[in-house]
Amino acid sequence: MPPILPTTAPFAEEHIAALNRVISVTTPEQRAWLSGYLAGLQAAGGSQAAVPAAPPAKRAPLTILFGTESGNSEALAAQVRKASAKLGFAPKVVDMADFTPAQAAATENLVIIAATWGEGDPPQRAVDFYEALMADDAPRFEKTRFAVLALGDRAYAQYCEIGRKIDERLAALGGNRITDRIDCDLDYETPATGWINSTLERLNAEVGVKDVGASIIHVDFARPGQESDAPTRAHPFAAEITESIRLSGSRSTSDTLHVTLSLEGSGIAYEPGDSLGVVASNNPILADAVLKAAGLSGDDTLRASLIERLDITTLTHKQLEDFARETGTKPLPAEWATGRRIIDLLETAPGALTVAQLTTLLRPLAPRYYSVASSRKAVGEEAHLLVAGLRYTSHGREREGVASLDIIERHREGDSLKVFLRTNPHFRLPADNDRPIIMVGPGTGVAPFRGFLQEREATGATGRNWLVFGHRNYTHDFLYQLELQDWIQSKLLTRLDVAFSRDQPEKRYVQNTLWDARSDLYAWLKDGAALYVCGDANAMAKDVHATLLRILADQGKQDEVAAKAELDAIRRDGRYLRDVY
Ligand SMILES: Cc1cc2nc3c(=O)[nH]c(=O)nc-3n(C[C@H](O)[C@H](O)[C@H](O)COP(=O)(O)OP(=O)(O)OC[C@H]3O[C@@H](n4cnc5c(N)ncnc54)[C@H](O)[C@@H]3O)c2cc1C
Ligand SMILES: Cc1cc2nc3c(=O)[nH]c(=O)nc-3n(C[C@H](O)[C@H](O)[C@H](O)COP(=O)(O)O)c2cc1C
Repeated sequence: MPPILPTTAPFAEEHIAALNRVISVTTPEQRAWLSGYLAGLQAAGGSQAAVPAAPPAKRAPLTILFGTESGNSEALAAQVRKASAKLGFAPKVVDMADFTPAQAAATENLVIIAATWGEGDPPQRAVDFYEALMADDAPRFEKTRFAVLALGDRAYAQYCEIGRKIDERLAALGGNRITDRIDCDLDYETPATGWINSTLERLNAEVGVKDVGASIIHVDFARPGQESDAPTRAHPFAAEITESIRLSGSRSTSDTLHVTLSLEGSGIAYEPGDSLGVVASNNPILADAVLKAAGLSGDDTLRASLIERLDITTLTHKQLEDFARETGTKPLPAEWATGRRIIDLLETAPGALTVAQLTTLLRPLAPRYYSVASSRKAVGEEAHLLVAGLRYTSHGREREGVASLDIIERHREGDSLKVFLRTNPHFRLPADNDRPIIMVGPGTGVAPFRGFLQEREATGATGRNWLVFGHRNYTHDFLYQLELQDWIQSKLLTRLDVAFSRDQPEKRYVQNTLWDARSDLYAWLKDGAALYVCGDANAMAKDVHATLLRILADQGKQDEVAAKAELDAIRRDGRYLRDVY
């Protein structure tokens, strides 16, 4: 994945843009060569301008290895790099996708940041690294000092599973653990900062880079490309909803809303591919039901916290244990939490908790992310979102998604939504405007591609554009149908393929469409097309990935191993990009 220089880099704005244009089309090898070449040139005093050579200090190497799907681990890895460089280490950040256990075992100092996905799975790009590490012939790590930070979400049964397994495996392979692993939930910033500080201090004490005493390293969590004074999760911007249109038909089984937000005065400068974090509120009716089940109705301060600040929907295994301990009841088995929420637990022992016990039991309410479905070049100081309402029934109860229903049911035009920017520098249009792109975006996965298409139209990009969209029914769920058809007319969209799963007896999904179009798809890829996938992580993205491998095998007349190598090469080339959730 190409690194993108932040706007804070010490160059003029147009130079940053020019460098980013070049860097974004380089391979990792080219970037490594360039950085080595420039460093060598500078150290040798060989540049034409008289550049002072760097002092020949011996800096301890530190490899920061991350395994990510949605970028949190990578953003944290960048923070470890910054903090460790300040301490005098020579840090290097690497993606598990581009690293092997043998390379890891050859490092002296290794910090690993790994997220868990699916149901206790590694992020897709980290699968090869992870499997090789777990294999019988994995290398020994006796030479390596290591520390692991695991990212996850306590709402999942296999909480931080991948970080935990990597940590255990490195120790079993003889690695020297410099500090205990930390498992971080969705509100990882504060614990991660503490861990980064203590780990680097510990490592520093062992390696003796520089005497920092008890100095505190400042870790800031701005993501690449994000301005440091822009609105954040803690200080979001109240964006007015200027338009709110239901896109799904009245007979649709889903409920999807197009929302236009005014970003005027926000300082939020998104690029197509970014998403907005929405700081949502819980349904007050649910908050009242929780208060009632807890026997704490009438406490207005607590009620406000339950609506605004605390997660009153998910139910974790830890909460089952904590609740049993606090109430002196027998812990419920872990499987009991599946499909249940905190209210179900409270109702097993009504009125058993104090206010303090209840607020300690609950997690902070996490923001939800929505892909921006527009380009600023087309819509100015607006951001468009596409929000699908989540409703389902489990254990005989009707349940609602917190943020999607807050946006759909409890906000009207003229109200405001609290938002902040979440940049995604790895999900960008190609820097070269004439490169063809294939966009696979069923359901709300189409959102960023509307932004891509607006941007390509506004910039007059000449590259061909192919969109593969899917949903349930043609008549009720064809999101942005008229715009897409206009873009076919105007030839901005070279090709539009659709898969409506419920319009015929057998289910039909985007991966079936891709398979049917395999010879064209292969030809586009051979022409250098970049392929984007956005939407559901659990089923769709996995099925699309498996189908792409089948297509490369079939069309390239090669076996599975060669097909996988080809897809890996396309990914390393920055031409297979995913934003899945
Ligand atoms: C980078 C990114 C971009 C995104 N872009 C978009 C977008 O453009 N549009 C969009 O609509 N969403 C998008 N999402 C998803 C979005 O962030 C929310 O996850 C989604 O709206 C649901 O949030 P919620 O608060 O309504 O539901 P929550 O309250 O978070 O509920 C979700 C939870 O409900 C449970 N659940 C769901 N269905 C069932 C079921 N059938 N049975 C039992 N339990 C169930 C699961 O535990 C699930 O985790 C994106 C996510 C990411 C990470
Ligand atoms: C579809 C999906 C599946 C997930 N599965 C798990 C899981 O099984 N266990 C876990 O601890 N966290 C799980 N998570 C939470 C992620 O690990 C968490 O959001 C993490 O911060 C992502 O880090 P990344 O951005 O580096 O990929 C899941 C998240 C999503 C969206």
